[in-house]
Amino acid sequence: MTARTVVTGTGHYVPPRVVTNRDLEKLMDTSDEWIRERSGILERHHVEAGIGTSDLAVEAARRAIADAGIDPATIDFIVAATLSPDHYFPGIGVLVQAKLGLGTIGALDVRNQCSGFIYALSAADQYIRAGTYKRILLVAAEVQSTNLDFSDKGRDMSVLFGDGAGAVILEPNTNGDGRGILSTHLFADGNFASHLWMEKPSPMDSPTFQTGFFEEGRFFPKMEGRNVFVNACQRMPEAVRAGLEANGLRVEDIDALIPHQANDRISLMVAKGLKIPGEKVIRNIDRIGNTTAASIPIALDEAVKAGRIRTGHLVVLTAFGSGYTWASALIRW
Ligand code: COA
Repeated sequence: MTARTVVTGTGHYVPPRVVTNRDLEKLMDTSDEWIRERSGILERHHVEAGIGTSDLAVEAARRAIADAGIDPATIDFIVAATLSPDHYFPGIGVLVQAKLGLGTIGALDVRNQCSGFIYALSAADQYIRAGTYKRILLVAAEVQSTNLDFSDKGRDMSVLFGDGAGAVILEPNTNGDGRGILSTHLFADGNFASHLWMEKPSPMDSPTFQTGFFEEGRFFPKMEGRNVFVNACQRMPEAVRAGLEANGLRVEDIDALIPHQANDRISLMVAKGLKIPGEKVIRNIDRIGNTTAASIPIALDEAVKAGRIRTGHLVVLTAFGSGYTWASALIRW
């Protein structure tokens, strides 16, 4: 019997400092009302200076390891997804490995932004099903607050994003009960790369770091908000339908849908597009903001712990973001 990849533990961590919409009103020309109406966000978490993405990742990983009830020494591979690594290089995978004291196991870094968790899940799933690894730590984490433009110029972006991390432990399930990852579907269209990106630093510039770029704000992330919105509302339902079709399942079979928490209006449009009842859609952006790759595993952990996701449920994950990249994953929980 072919193994399926099953999630045996989940965990998440957000830094303690809560930043409300009212706090942001003090920094830029915005309002609590505007942010709530346009994004559904009431507050998000920001790190204190000196805390990096790998630190958040390690906390989330520790919680997932405890939840799985495993000895960390039995983890045989790490996959880490982030767009905000502690350093330009190396990625955070090796830092997580060293901070957790996981010896010399391999550590793969995935760079697919908001779709990063599902892309990473897909890679880990292939390793497990092929028998290459038996216990993978998959962690997705972001620190975005330290590089957002909190002036009026950057207000479209800076009100949306928050910091946080989520992690899962993945193992093979060969007992034939059908539990595990049913499929992952990954898509991308690089023609839209510049619609949601951080243009600088770029090694194409010589030297890479130039004072002028800082003055022009070109080291801050930028997006074409409306184009992102329209594409996200279209692409996530498409990815979910591709997954359902491949498995001979219908929208009515879904017990829990976890869309990437980009913007609550997008999540509601995705639900409407799929004609899935609101109570099946997991949404936590009001408290967490958009944490890019970390948003799905954070929401997943909360939903599992709250009993909204239970054994036997069909859980569907979907994401859309920078690249553009978009994806879905179907999991029999
Ligand atoms: N506070 C107050 N006003 C703001 C603001 C803020 N934080 N950000 C932008 N505005 C202003 C704009 O300057 C614009 O003013 P103008 O009409 O005088 O030019 C006005 O609000 C409307 O801007 P617009 O961009 O048309 O608003 P929108 O309805 O498209 O909503 C987003 C903006 C960013 C909320 C929306 O485009 C969005 O959610 N896009 C997708 C974002 C996303 O999910 N990104 C991550 C992808 S993973």
